Amino acid sequence: MAMAFTVWLLLLSLLFLLPVSVLSQTNGSIVVGASLSAAGNSSWISSSGEFAFGFQQLENSDRFLLSIWFAKIPDRTIVWYANGDRPAPKGSIVNLTANSGLLLTSPQGEELWRSETIVGVVAYGLMNDAGNFVLENEKSEKLWETFKNPTDTMLPGQIMEIGGKLFSRQSETNYVRGRFQLTLQQDGNLVFSAKEPFYSTATTAGTIPGSEGKRLVFNDSGNFYILRVNGGKFTFTEEERPARDYYLRSTLNFDGVLAQYFLPKPYVGNVSWKPLWSEPPNICQKVDSGPGVCGENSICTLKADKRPTCECPRGYSLRDPNDPYGTCNPDFRQDCDNELSYSKDLFDVQVLTNTDWLTSGGNEQLNASTADTCSQSCFQDCLCDVASYSNETCWKKKLPLTYGREDSSLNAKTFIKFRKDNSTPQVPKMPGSDNKKKIWTTSVPVESILLFTSISLNFMFGAAVCFRFFFCFRKKPAKFTHSDLETNLRSFSHKELEEATNGFNEVLGEGSFGVVYKGIIQVGSGVEVAVKKLKRVIEDGDKEFKTELNIIGKTHHKNLVHLVGYCDEGQQRLLVYEFLSNGTLASFIFGDEKPSWRQRMEIAIGVARGLLYLHEECTTQIIHCDIKPQNILLDDHYNARISDFGLAKLMMTNQSKTHTTIKGTKGYVAPEWFRNMAITTKVDVYSFGVVLLEIICCRRSVDMENNCEEKAILTDWVYDCYQGGVLELALDYEVNPLDGEMKLEETVMIALWCIQEDPAFRPTMRKVVQMLEGVVEIHVPPCPSPYNRAA
Ligand SMILES: *[C@@H]1O[C@H](CO)[C@@H](O)[C@H](O)[C@H]1NC(C)=O
Ligand SMILES: *[C@@H]1O[C@H](CO)[C@@H](O)[C@H](O)[C@H]1NC(C)=O
Ligand SMILES: *[C@@H]1O[C@H](CO)[C@@H](O)[C@H](O)[C@H]1NC(C)=O
Ligand SMILES: *[C@@H]1O[C@H](CO)[C@@H](O)[C@H](O)[C@H]1NC(C)=O
Ligand SMILES: *[C@@H]1O[C@H](CO)[C@@H](O)[C@H](O)[C@H]1NC(C)=O
Ligand SMILES: *[C@@H]1O[C@H](CO)[C@@H](O)[C@H](O)[C@H]1NC(C)=O
Ligand SMILES: *[C@@H]1O[C@H](CO)[C@@H](O)[C@H](O)[C@H]1NC(C)=O
Repeated sequence: MAMAFTVWLLLLSLLFLLPVSVLSQTNGSIVVGASLSAAGNSSWISSSGEFAFGFQQLENSDRFLLSIWFAKIPDRTIVWYANGDRPAPKGSIVNLTANSGLLLTSPQGEELWRSETIVGVVAYGLMNDAGNFVLENEKSEKLWETFKNPTDTMLPGQIMEIGGKLFSRQSETNYVRGRFQLTLQQDGNLVFSAKEPFYSTATTAGTIPGSEGKRLVFNDSGNFYILRVNGGKFTFTEEERPARDYYLRSTLNFDGVLAQYFLPKPYVGNVSWKPLWSEPPNICQKVDSGPGVCGENSICTLKADKRPTCECPRGYSLRDPNDPYGTCNPDFRQDCDNELSYSKDLFDVQVLTNTDWLTSGGNEQLNASTADTCSQSCFQDCLCDVASYSNETCWKKKLPLTYGREDSSLNAKTFIKFRKDNSTPQVPKMPGSDNKKKIWTTSVPVESILLFTSISLNFMFGAAVCFRFFFCFRKKPAKFTHSDLETNLRSFSHKELEEATNGFNEVLGEGSFGVVYKGIIQVGSGVEVAVKKLKRVIEDGDKEFKTELNIIGKTHHKNLVHLVGYCDEGQQRLLVYEFLSNGTLASFIFGDEKPSWRQRMEIAIGVARGLLYLHEECTTQIIHCDIKPQNILLDDHYNARISDFGLAKLMMTNQSKTHTTIKGTKGYVAPEWFRNMAITTKVDVYSFGVVLLEIICCRRSVDMENNCEEKAILTDWVYDCYQGGVLELALDYEVNPLDGEMKLEETVMIALWCIQEDPAFRPTMRKVVQMLEGVVEIHVPPCPSPYNRAA
């Protein structure tokens, strides 16, 4: 017994050592009963020595793959594998059996894989020189072959019949079945598909009978084609690389690209596989359905070998670090329900050229004149994650983004927001509509001070991180640095304007930036203009002036006063505006007769839209800094037109600073000005809020002439009335104020949001417009200045 066992063991070890060398070196034929063990390199080699069948140890693993590979190429490129889903532990054995064909069992005796449905009795196995492992019966009839049971690769001489499939592996080194599949369908179409529907290619479907595909052929001349029923061919390439001279293979790669590769024979050194063709030619462009080759928010780039790589944009990282083709998640959160958490100072945009995501959670189309406007618009919009600008159209997009790709044919500029630091500030929640007003008065002392402090800290942190919104001017340096004006502004000589204004005779008004005169310029029958003589221009002069004019000259909005031209002669700087017949908003609302509520509300929306344009929609962001009824003009149809925008930068001298700070108490000026805080568009929101209250009440914001002290400060007075539920008081019991759709209380609430002491609490002008238009809900505003009041 012991003797028998020893002999058996000896035989076994002989089988390990001998068959490999003896059998393979003859003619590739393997006898029934032969086996290979998964340990080291054990294989059966074809007679030419070009192909090997056996075990290959998986990279970075102690498991083995039963496979066929190119035996003369050192990289041992695998062309067929059996147990991709169930890698074999060391010591597993593959037996060639008469009744079951190939049988792979683990050392514990567990069956890992077997060659399927063998009808008949296997006489021998054969690793042939084409790379096909065949099981034959005594009559040399093929019972089973790897060519008929392909995995992800086809070799010359291999044919796929209707119903045949190739499956991709999961990654270059992971042979578990992957996402992609290639099928020669019943209808004769060769179709690419993925686990998630991805895309399909109808390569041969023809309306002409007989043009259907019949089989997929890889012949020995190296031609890879679909043979049609009528004998015609759909070829993937005309180029011939015969199998005699080249190693060839066509592989459905793990990334979904089917490609034919070649390598000159004989193998002479460090050359590697090169693709002859690939299908699809650019997989990054395949956008039928499903997530595409790269995961959500990822960017697909086609490499030189026509294979894709996926990359997360800046500020994003892979959800699964082990799956570079997977979804990219943002490292940050834009919580738009919580206005405070979206401090723009914390964000920046990365500019990607010729890159775009073709679909996303929400696409908003915007008519934007420039890429810059597009970028700005997204940057300002908390709901926007990405903006892309192409063909003079701006698309604002939301996560998740799919079909991201880099492609020069896109001709697009894409802006993706990312957070500059990784910390997510702890911000208090914005009071929702469920909060009662009371919270903000009765429980003020402790809560709101804490709240306020933390908000301030956050805000200042944000401001410190990025001090980009400096003062009331453009956010980015203008690209045009040369002094020539690129707009169609007309340049006037001083003499011309002197004549036009009849020697600066008729004064229309005096603003913070200078005196305005009426004039008539001779264009056709003569056009009325308003000529503003600037008091003083920033010292470094000429270039600055023209840069600013370029910015102002490029603004076009129906709620802005249009700049017609300018004069820039020596010390003289004058601006020529269109003349508006109906004077200023100040004279309109503070006059003896109150305009109708509807008219007032239309003006309010007009002003808001004009500001929104300045903040978010024009080429270069403009912070007005001096919104007040004196700077809002009315045209023939009583449309509100904002004037003096873009001038703050020019006039940012001690003079105008003094001017604004002098107003100290409670005018139109946001608290930031006194607090050395960053000046953002929110200063305009504040001023707008004050103006809105003035429009509502037809009263000046500071009215010292009024004997009643508690009414002197309009903002406080209105808040008190609002708190007390007696808003009619604020309107002096105006008769029938509600003749428009706009409700008094709601409008007051919007204004109270705008005049929040903390800029972070104030809505953006976009939100203000939406609230005024009634398209978003208006929550109950907190006390505008809880700090002052608590004290
Ligand atoms: C291979 O060689 C063996 C003997 O070594 C022989 O029995 C067998 O028929 C040969 N097979 C082929 C396919 O030539
Ligand atoms: C297996 O084969 C490869 C290439 O032929 C060789 O580099 C390696 O050393 C072999 N390993 C063993 C354990 O024989
Ligand atoms: C496989 O072959 C080995 C040795 O040749 C033998 O011990 C084992 O029983 C065989 N397994 C099967 C399932 O035939
Ligand atoms: C392979 O196919 C091509 C194209 O149909 C044909 O020209 C060539 O003769 C074929 N080669 C072989 C060996 O069948
Ligand atoms: C091939 O080898 C040569 C030297 O033997 C080396 O200079 C070259 O970089 C190698 N090429 C590749 C692709 O490895
Ligand atoms: C964009 O402009 C076109 C024509 O100028 C206009 O028809 C369209 O309504 C505009 N779209 C938006 C969203 O403003
Ligand atoms: C750009 O837009 C125009 C008009 O809307 C259109 O005719 C043209 O095809 C577009 N070009 C591209 C590349 O989308």
